[in-house]
Amino acid sequence: MEYNRRKFISFLGKAGIGLAIVPPFLTSCGNTTTPSKNKGVTDAGYLEKLKNFELKDLLASDKDDLLLTEGLNYHPVVKWGDAISDNDTFGFNNDFTCFIPLDENNPKDGLLWVNHEYINPLFVSDFNYRDYDNPAEHRTIDQVDKEMYNVGGTIVRVREENGQWKVVKNDPLNRRITAQTDIKLNWDSPIKGTSTVKGTLANCSGGITPWKTFITCEENYDGFFGETKYDENNKATHRPSRYGWEKFYEYPPEHYGWVVEIDPRTGAAQKHIALGRFAHECCTLYELEDKRVVAYTGDDKNSEHLYKFISSKPGSLKEGTLYVADTENGKWLSLDWENQPVLKEKFKDQTEVLIRAREAAKLLGATELNRPEDIEIDPVTGHIFLTLTNNKDKGDFHGSIMKIEETNGAFDALTFKASTYIAGGEENGFSCPDNLAFDMAGNLWITSDMSGSSMNRKDKPYMPFKNNSLFVIPRYGKDAGKVIRVASAPKDAELTGPWFSPDGKTLFLSVQHPGEQTKDIKNPTSTWPFDKDNIPKSAVVAIQGEVIEKMNKLRALEA
Ligand code: FEO
Ligand code: CA
Ligand code: CA
Ligand code: CA
Repeated sequence: MEYNRRKFISFLGKAGIGLAIVPPFLTSCGNTTTPSKNKGVTDAGYLEKLKNFELKDLLASDKDDLLLTEGLNYHPVVKWGDAISDNDTFGFNNDFTCFIPLDENNPKDGLLWVNHEYINPLFVSDFNYRDYDNPAEHRTIDQVDKEMYNVGGTIVRVREENGQWKVVKNDPLNRRITAQTDIKLNWDSPIKGTSTVKGTLANCSGGITPWKTFITCEENYDGFFGETKYDENNKATHRPSRYGWEKFYEYPPEHYGWVVEIDPRTGAAQKHIALGRFAHECCTLYELEDKRVVAYTGDDKNSEHLYKFISSKPGSLKEGTLYVADTENGKWLSLDWENQPVLKEKFKDQTEVLIRAREAAKLLGATELNRPEDIEIDPVTGHIFLTLTNNKDKGDFHGSIMKIEETNGAFDALTFKASTYIAGGEENGFSCPDNLAFDMAGNLWITSDMSGSSMNRKDKPYMPFKNNSLFVIPRYGKDAGKVIRVASAPKDAELTGPWFSPDGKTLFLSVQHPGEQTKDIKNPTSTWPFDKDNIPKSAVVAIQGEVIEKMNKLRALEA
């Protein structure tokens, strides 16, 4: 179905006067230079061609393949089950990716971090959940151990040779972080009796710190060890999880739902309690001039909230204050037990406020949002972009992208203005925005996440959009302000974790959960990436081509 959306929407905005230049590590390409107007474009003939450059918009497709627009190509870098060393394999359902070069002067050799969000037991542990009401009673600890190994994250050295990114197998820095890895809590008080917990899971999106470490975020943690619920008398009960891991290992739910930092070289991990506990989609950091940090992070659940942490000490993700957004009045409200009587009344201390951040946020009157997902800071204007993927309970089926402008462009401001940058829906050609990335020229790349059970169904409002896709909104040139589909995912998959290599020439992208609706492994709904096993496998791909190169140079057209 073709629909009319070739009209200009709103521009992302040109560079503002007096706005802070965003530090280089935050241009999601992780580049060593701030996006520059004329980078690489000195020849007038080329500039003329760039003026006429138009992206080809892919038509929506339900084909079981990774389709790319003209001028782009891809190759798989690593897929589920691939050996990264003699001891370890790449985990399941890859999501967030982040690349850090080993040597700043060589953008073609570095460490790739990849999140492994959750597992499909049908593929991982030979267990079909659909057959049982109570999965925990029907599988062994060996099956659960396989599941636990397949979530968390992977650090793998990758190198580009002759245009092809390849895993450096057995590199000493290659390692897995799993649901059984020991992880320290960056907090003074123990949580549920310990300051070192077991594992990380539900790793959805993430970020990078100014000191070049990886951030991975625990999102739908309650699916693994359940959740502690409180009734009106503050009495706690356990709500069981979907996977039933708590029947095999007694790890408390309070050990999950945190922002986790990973040292790329040692693999040492820590959970940052000060950033609160909820379904963290991502965590986007900004370093202030005095080296204090600001961290934005959202809670991807219907009618939950957007948070911001401001540190009181340079480089600290422990000392500081967590705030939650009142987007209606443009105020950051502090989740500070000491200074908020309403929190003092309900919770026994700051640790409890952070563990039960959702309840604390609601007590303070934070604004309910439609499932906050990824957050990126616009490298040109310093505005903060936040995807609100949908909220079906409230009749928002297609989601939107919110723009936050901090007062005077100060990231540690306690007031701001929120507005809708663009809404999903047929008119704009996309639905359910999830991940965001800005490239070197400040073009905005967006992935969609319509759920596998709703896509391509006549009885759902997602039919016109067909498979999940990758879109770009160019900032300059002929296509400025248009939403253009540049990639279409295989069946049941979503495209996640867009991350540009330091030279801006490769877009790393996760293809997550192809064939997720498979009921019978012998008859899968997808067989992408079409390897010899003939089953669907999530994989990270490298996308390259002249389209990316031209997009990076578009800023030369800035009026
Ligand atoms: Fe795992 Fe919010 O997407
Ligand atoms: Ca996501
Ligand atoms: Ca992102
Ligand atoms: Ca999502």
